[in-house]
Amino acid sequence: MSDLLQIEDLTQESGDTHRPTLVERESVDYRAIAKHVGRIGEGKKYLIKTYGCQMNEHDSEIMAGMLEEMGYQPTSVNEEADFILFNTCAVRENAEDKVFGEIGRLKPLKNRNPELILGLCGCMAQEEPVQQLVAKTYPHIDIVFGTHNIHQLPELVEQARNSQETIFEVWEKAGDVVENLPKLRKDGIRAWVNIQYGCNKYCTYCIVPYTRGRERSRLMEDVVEEVKQLAADGYKEITLLGQNVNDYGLDLKAYDFADLLAAVNKVEGIERIRFTTSNPWNFSDKLIQTIASCEKVVNHIHLPVQSGDNTILRRMNRGYTREYYLDLVARIRRAIPDVSLTTDIIVGFPGETEEQFRETLSLVEQVRFDGAYTFIYSPRKGTPAIRFREQVSEEDKKRRLQELIELQNGITREFSESMKNQTFDVLVEGESKTNSDVLQGRTTTNKIVLFRGPKELIGRIVKIHVTEAQTWYLRGELVSTQHELAV
Ligand code: 5AD
Ligand code: SF4
Repeated sequence: MSDLLQIEDLTQESGDTHRPTLVERESVDYRAIAKHVGRIGEGKKYLIKTYGCQMNEHDSEIMAGMLEEMGYQPTSVNEEADFILFNTCAVRENAEDKVFGEIGRLKPLKNRNPELILGLCGCMAQEEPVQQLVAKTYPHIDIVFGTHNIHQLPELVEQARNSQETIFEVWEKAGDVVENLPKLRKDGIRAWVNIQYGCNKYCTYCIVPYTRGRERSRLMEDVVEEVKQLAADGYKEITLLGQNVNDYGLDLKAYDFADLLAAVNKVEGIERIRFTTSNPWNFSDKLIQTIASCEKVVNHIHLPVQSGDNTILRRMNRGYTREYYLDLVARIRRAIPDVSLTTDIIVGFPGETEEQFRETLSLVEQVRFDGAYTFIYSPRKGTPAIRFREQVSEEDKKRRLQELIELQNGITREFSESMKNQTFDVLVEGESKTNSDVLQGRTTTNKIVLFRGPKELIGRIVKIHVTEAQTWYLRGELVSTQHELAV
């Protein structure tokens, strides 16, 4: 059977992958369903190790919020911790290997301190082979829970204190969207806001639809309420998070992502709105116009292309062609001329020939992305692509990745150079990580800018004249603050 036929079979099996089932749904209040366990973490410390995407980073902020409500305090040292939680990613195999390596190394610590609780959650926890491996090889893990039942963390910790066995609590399917979860955001200026969970797309290489479930949107009023609260707390920038943000609202029937952007754009106090990840499908003209016309929505779109070759795109089940993607880019650029586009690209998808890889290079040259996250294809158990014949050799994958990175780095560098001697609005995030005398901020297009200035500027938008360009960051001089200019 050819790979193409395999994809068609898959699509039939899983129904129409481009339309989620429309359902009536209400959200549930965490405060109403949380099992109250009291402050059982008083005097104790926790450490969460987060792998993978921004969604996971934000889930870790939620779990940190729950743990601190239980009395736990944070630590970054394994030996000091009473609870170590691995919030894991399943997208690529090497991330999984790293997690098991670290968990294995914690065994002596657990032997010395049997009171230590070890937890595994996130996308890996949803995978059955991982659950089996934990049961067989890593029984020193106390709790395994999935992406759909994060809100149960407090009761699971309580159970683990009284149990010698590993507790597995992994819901296969998502329940209701849970609202009012506690959150401990690290940064007081920029915040992530979930708008949608799960993915319906079933790209043939990707494990996410299996680990995060079907698409579920949060109600618009709940998202807007959270953003208002963030504005009241002094946050200046929000990033709306979802696997497919431009599918937002399809399951609710009442409104779409463009409507949500317009609503969030009205929240006073928030100055910048980002979103990730948007996908090439379903990227409507209404959405493009909304991004162009909402002054707080930044001129940056992360638009994963994955490959520049039509056969590979088809076999990836991406649902668009190279021509469609290029036309979409042209439509976006017509409406938002200063837009910055970034992307994700996979090299070495099964059966990818040298010519097909060259199509990806040529698309990169044609679009001229500001930046790209580039990945070597990683076969994932449970996804259709693992069954595709003609896996590309490791050597070819590595060489292709290197060639792609070199091409993209050159383009990114040229973009940075083109910003020299121009002035940009920069949201000041804090001190530079390497030099506390220097401040760090970002342009609307997400370029890092380093400059000297007083610490009072942190959290404000300032004008910076760019004097030096490196590939990944710019250096500049303070011109004035936006506030002063407005007066
Ligand atoms: N192998 C390599 N990269 C992958 N991605 C998703 N699944 C895989 C895989 N099996 C990449 C895609 C996606 C990004 C988040 O991770 O490029 O956009
Ligand atoms: Fe969903 Fe495809 Fe993105 Fe995976 S790569 S999360 S399947 S859209």
